[in-house]
Amino acid sequence: MATVFSTTTLYEDQADRLRAAGHRLDLHESVGPIDREELLCGVADAEALVCLLTDRIDEEILRAGGSLKIVANVAVGYENIDVEAASQLGIMVTNTPDVLTEATADLTFALLLAAARRIAEADRAVREGRFPAWSLDQPLLGLDVHGKTLGIVGMGRIGTAVARRGALGFGMPILYHSRTWHEDAARELEAEYVSFEQLLAGSDFVSIHVPKTTETRHLFDADAFARMKPTAILINPARGSVVDEAALVDALEAGAIAGAGLDVYENEPTVHPKLLALTERIVLAPHLGSATRETRHAMARLAVDNVLGVLRGELPTTPVA
Ligand code: NAP
Ligand code: GLV
Repeated sequence: MATVFSTTTLYEDQADRLRAAGHRLDLHESVGPIDREELLCGVADAEALVCLLTDRIDEEILRAGGSLKIVANVAVGYENIDVEAASQLGIMVTNTPDVLTEATADLTFALLLAAARRIAEADRAVREGRFPAWSLDQPLLGLDVHGKTLGIVGMGRIGTAVARRGALGFGMPILYHSRTWHEDAARELEAEYVSFEQLLAGSDFVSIHVPKTTETRHLFDADAFARMKPTAILINPARGSVVDEAALVDALEAGAIAGAGLDVYENEPTVHPKLLALTERIVLAPHLGSATRETRHAMARLAVDNVLGVLRGELPTTPVA
């Protein structure tokens, strides 16, 4: 029998799978991030840790978990975990790729459509009794989506799923920039590999799908916004650190770009106050990418698969690279 400490309540059927395998499950049950002391205490006698992307799993936590065999992140991004320290300590780290790809791509497209067609503004107008009169040049005029050029930065799992929606669903020509050339995307979607600068200059919608790394920090800065079309809309469902939020505010205020659909922020859960004040073609979501019932359940199941596998002495299903 092993002890599994989870910083999140798991769905009952997933908790039961751990118990049915003979393991003891200790849960952090309260809502909101676990505090540091509770985390240090929780890992102390645990062989497995199930955690969220808001939990900072650094060397101190890993060392405090002297018996840890696995850290199972319930997220695809894993920049919250010191993977190098874990590997030196012989602790496996796993994430939850693939099962959240389609839900996150759906949310990306929801942001894109909502920003272009001003859905959040329109909803507020209707609720507040400001139903606009029918006129050609009405106040909530949006921008076309179909047939416009979609630029994908980071043509991985989610980037490709977003490109597929754009190309096959909305007839959008696809430009992409990534570290490598993606032959499948080129063949299936006629996606064109371009430099980062060409993508910025040529796209009507720019959608970000790179992970949080030192190289991607502030990839979108004042210089990047200056290279974009003034009619372009930026979509960021990846990580807040990829965008210099202050520079984005300046670009939106100056009309250097036309709008933004954001799911992630530099200092979550804090949002730049000036972003909150901007409304035209701006849609802000609270990190909802994978937040559907089915997908969150699939993420929990995959995290538990990983834990059960490692506790049986096997390799996990989805170790991080
Ligand atoms: P993925 O399959 O690993 O895709 C990431 C892509 O980014 C890869 O194709 C990679 O390059 C490319 N890339 C990495 N560094 C780059 C750089 N410096 N310049 C250009 N391209 C670079 O990951 P995924 O499953 O699609 O997830 C992507 C990210 O989305 C996650 O890391 C996470 O931060 C975020 N996410 C957010 C939510 C949400 O709730 N909003 C949900 C899920 C994921 P190559 O393949 O070209 O080598
Ligand atoms: C969500 O942001 C994830 O990385 O899964």
